[in-house]
Parts: sequence; structure tokens; C-alpha cells
Amino acid sequence: MKTVRMPDGEDVPALGLGTWMMGEDPRRRAQEIAALRRGLDLGMTLIDTAEMYGEGASERLVGEAIAGRRDEVFLVSKVYPHNASRKGAVAACERSLTRLDTDRLDLYLLHWRGQHPLSETVEAFEALKADGKIRHWGVSNLDADEMRELVGLPDGDKVATNQVLYNLTRRGIEWDLLPWMQGRGLPLMAYSPVEQSRLLADRRLAGLAADHGVSVAQLALAFLLDREGVIAIPKSGHAGHVEENAGALGVVMTGELRAALDALFPPPRRGGRLEMI
Ligand SMILES: NC(=O)c1ccc[n+]([C@@H]2O[C@H](COP(=O)([O-])OP(=O)(O)OC[C@H]3O[C@@H](n4cnc5c(N)ncnc54)[C@H](OP(=O)(O)O)[C@@H]3O)[C@@H](O)[C@H]2O)c1
Repeated sequence: MKTVRMPDGEDVPALGLGTWMMGEDPRRRAQEIAALRRGLDLGMTLIDTAEMYGEGASERLVGEAIAGRRDEVFLVSKVYPHNASRKGAVAACERSLTRLDTDRLDLYLLHWRGQHPLSETVEAFEALKADGKIRHWGVSNLDADEMRELVGLPDGDKVATNQVLYNLTRRGIEWDLLPWMQGRGLPLMAYSPVEQSRLLADRRLAGLAADHGVSVAQLALAFLLDREGVIAIPKSGHAGHVEENAGALGVVMTGELRAALDALFPPPRRGGRLEMI
């Protein structure tokens, strides 16, 4: 497994597992658990969830999928912005731990910025860290200016990552946010890496993938895995798709292939607002 280094020197998998929309349909439960476990078997041991996903249903599913295998997993969850006050974030984290049936999170993220001051959320995160309930904390959906603001706050420079929308069709962060994070040695987590499956229907990308003997999903993920400090977290409820996604690690990214991807999906030529899903 390719790894990405966290600011404290810990290496985490560059290819993990997303879980949005999972755990919500009892008829899909066994298949979804099998998909997550297949991912663990393949080394995709970073699992991303959130209290928001199915209002706890995704966390409960993840808890079941990792039962007996907790120590293999780098477990990520997120706090709702409306819960991200000094006291609220601590209480929300405890509820997440209960649903996940674990005593600690490896990474806890502010899902997006809300009404509570960032400084209060940072205080809560640092208290959770001191208590051993989380090992690292980070943010999600913050733009470059907000990241600069965050690292200027007391303990704000302890931020471990920022999880943002990033895939071939959403390259805006390459203008400022990604270089800024790379410059500070901060990993960036790329969510919706196959654009919630819309990228898989792109005929031009399919043509390029076929020319290189790989699948469209593999090429879309390989584009992200090729970049320094980027962690991709595709979601799939099917073990076969998880296996296919793991195959992205074997794609050989040549200068020619990079140029062909740039021609189809050009990098940004100017700054713009951070995109979100
Ligand atoms: N921080 C945030 O605000 C935020 C926002 C969005 C997402 N996220 C996180 O990022 C994760 C990934 O993003 P996402 O779920 O929005 O989108 P995504 O991973 O880009 O796409 C997921 C969709 O692609 C399909 N898929 C995945 N691999 C496939 C394959 N090899 N072949 C065919 N279909 C495939 C899945 O279907 P199947 O299940 O049928 O395979 C699912 O419908 C989320 O699950 C969540 O953990 C975070």
C-alpha cells in the first residue's frame, strides 16, 4: 500500500474507504460489510465516516465491519458543525465512539465550517486528544484562506489534514489549497474521487483508460494517488468494485498519461471558490 505521511510522522494508507450512504438499507448491509472487510484485506485500512452519514447508521455499520480488527484500521469520523462547540464536540465524539464500538478515533474532522468559532472547536479537539479519545484532528471543506486563519489560532497548527472535494473534474484546489498544504507537509484527503460515479460515465476518460489497459475508476484514482500528500477515499458497497479500486495502485503514471489527463481535464488557470458536495 502506498502511504502518506501525517505531520507527526505516522504513515497512513493513500487509498482508503468512504462510507457515505452506507448502512442505510438493511438489505444491503451484509454486502456493504463484506465490501469494507475486503478493503481491509487489500490494505485500504483508512475508513472515513461521519456522524452525519445516515444520522449514525454509517458509523454503526463501520463498527460492525471492523469488529475484531480495530487495530488494523485508521478510523476517521466527523463532527457536524452545529455540534462543534467546546462541549458539543466532546459529546458528539463520545456518541460516535459508542456507535463505532471503539475507545478512540484516529482522526476527527470538523465536517464543514459552521456557527461555532474555529477556536472553540480546536479547544474541544485538543481536549479530546489529551483524553485519548482521538489521536489526530483535522477539518473538511476549508479553503486556503480559512486554513491560514486556522493555523494562526492557538493550537490551530496542530491540524492534521483538510478533507475536500478533489477529482479530475474538480481541480480548483491545485491553484492554491493543495500547494499550500503540500508546503506545510499536511496531507489532503480527496473526497468524491470518482465524482460520485459520474466520472465513470465519461467517454473520453473511458477511451484513455482502455488505451492503457486499466478501468476508468482505476485511472481516476491513479490521477489522485500520483500527487504528493493526497489520500483518496472512494466509497463502494460492492467488494468487486473495492477490488477494482485497489487496482489503481498498480497503474503506472507516465509523463505521457499525465499530459493526456491534463488535456482532457485541464488544471485551473485562476483561483476560485472551493467546490463542495
Ligand atoms: N467531507 C465531506 O464533506 C465529504 C463529502 C462527500 C464525501 N465524503 C467522503 O468521501 C467518500 C467518497 O465520496 P462519495 O461517496 O461522495 O463519492 P465517490 O467515492 O466518488 O463515488 C461513490 C460512487 O461511485 C461508485 N463506485 C465506486 N467505485 C466504483 C467502481 N470501481 N465501479 C463502479 N462504481 C463505483 C459507488 O457505487 P457502489 O457503491 O455501487 O460501488 C458510489 O455510487 C464518501 O463516501 C465520504 O466518506 C466526504
